[in-house]
Amino acid sequence: MSTTTAHSKILILDFGSQYTQVIARRIRECQVYSEVVPFSITAARVAEANAKGIVLSGGPASVYEERAPQIDPAIFALGIPVLGICYGMQQIAHHLGGKVEFSARREYGASMLHVADGSSLFHGIGEQLDIWNSHADKLTELPPGFRTAAYTENSPFAAIEDPDRKLYGLQFHPEVAHTPRGREIIQNFVYQICHCGMDWTMGSFIDEACEQVRRQVGEEKVVLGLSGGVDSSVVAALLHKAIGDQLTCIFVNNGLLRAREEEIVQRVFGENFHIKLKYVDASERFLSKLKGVTDPEQKRKIIGNEFIDVFQHATEELLAEDQANGAHGHSYRFLAQGTLYPDVIESVAIGGNPAHVIKSHHNVGGLPEKMHFELVEPVRQLFKDEVRQAGLQLGLPKEIVHRQPFPGPGLAVRILGEVTPEYLHILREADTIVTSEMEASDWYYRVWQSFAVLLPIRSVGVMGDQRTYENTIAIRIVESQDGMTADWVRLPYELLARISSRIINEVKGVNRVCYDISSKPPSTIEWE
Ligand code: XMP
Repeated sequence: MSTTTAHSKILILDFGSQYTQVIARRIRECQVYSEVVPFSITAARVAEANAKGIVLSGGPASVYEERAPQIDPAIFALGIPVLGICYGMQQIAHHLGGKVEFSARREYGASMLHVADGSSLFHGIGEQLDIWNSHADKLTELPPGFRTAAYTENSPFAAIEDPDRKLYGLQFHPEVAHTPRGREIIQNFVYQICHCGMDWTMGSFIDEACEQVRRQVGEEKVVLGLSGGVDSSVVAALLHKAIGDQLTCIFVNNGLLRAREEEIVQRVFGENFHIKLKYVDASERFLSKLKGVTDPEQKRKIIGNEFIDVFQHATEELLAEDQANGAHGHSYRFLAQGTLYPDVIESVAIGGNPAHVIKSHHNVGGLPEKMHFELVEPVRQLFKDEVRQAGLQLGLPKEIVHRQPFPGPGLAVRILGEVTPEYLHILREADTIVTSEMEASDWYYRVWQSFAVLLPIRSVGVMGDQRTYENTIAIRIVESQDGMTADWVRLPYELLARISSRIINEVKGVNRVCYDISSKPPSTIEWE
């Protein structure tokens, strides 16, 4: 758990719901800090955490099953307000003398909630509201001391409360968009019931994070691998604010970058921000290692290993340069990384819930282990949308803060099979057209990713009076919340037509363009 104590804080006990992180984000949107902890946390630890409120998430289990995750019931006696959502409400009932039973009639989807008089959870919301349910078990008997706060046609106990003990339960999900006024219910809980202040703001976060970094690194030097992506860019700006020239960024050109990427990064960080930036052009090295390699996993492995070697060599050079310039003492003891909160949350796997089993396989690991760095992770408390807000507040341009994700192995995973300079050239040109058309039509920021993929498959075409025999470009444009699942975007035909005709007319070596209409799963976003 973080040591931050200055804020009002809400703890979320995770019982394995796919929405646990959504709850955390909704609370933070109220400008109240929230943290996700495993359901097994003890009452003593909860008391230490100094939280103003506790939310019990939903979850896939049934409370009466033998191996169901159970809360430490002493938590209910701490006097801290508790809001149980779905399985969380069933936990309250189960431990405090109510009855939860299997229901043959699973309630899934929208329904209408009728609010009883005088419940603080529904303060100012009115008598009826649309809600969204997803549960099979249901409460059949209230625990002693509780009353109904709201009901649906299907359930007399859709919301329950014991205001004296500050215990509240909701059978439905206030955190999802399908409960339009759910935000207000959450606001009522955090402001009216827990008395949290609105003190979680990006301004206060940045000040505290800077302070914490200064305390952690003292006079020592910090090195950061800057990729030009959102996370490392925000970390660069934040650390620069905190420790100025004690930070050096290393930007490695692996030869697999998009067109003009190295220019953009050097301009934004070197020229505008005056951040110490070491630019390493290792493209030849990467490309020669990739020569003749066609297997996707092999390509990734080579790129990952090369990156570590190049990075290590670059830090040694930095040290040698410092020494040549007469600087003494401090070596690069710290490595900064753009680790985010979803990577930090201890996951609980309950009933094989895939929301928790799927793990990001993409973060470039290996650097700290190999190089004995200590880590500086100033944004590890933040969700992605918060990182973006912090970036804007730190003065980073929108083009950086809102850019789409780009994979570490770069264009190598967008050229099927062998990566050659010729294919890279073709792909960069096609990709530039996709991006510029997406930007011009305002679609770029509305999708998760939009890019071109080179298929080294030749097909026959005709250009003027000439027969052509050239490569194919696939266009991949997807929407997604987190990259774990995705769907292809129903782009207007006119835009697709413009992208296609520009690529075929302007990019030498391409005579055919296809649009990828696969979703993830079962496909993936990248082609390799
Ligand atoms: P897939 O292709 O697995 O991609 O559906 C999911 C998301 O992850 C990105 N991606 C990567 N990011 N290093 C990264 O930093 C990688 O090796 C990598 N592979 C895929 C991909 O662009 C998408 O957003």
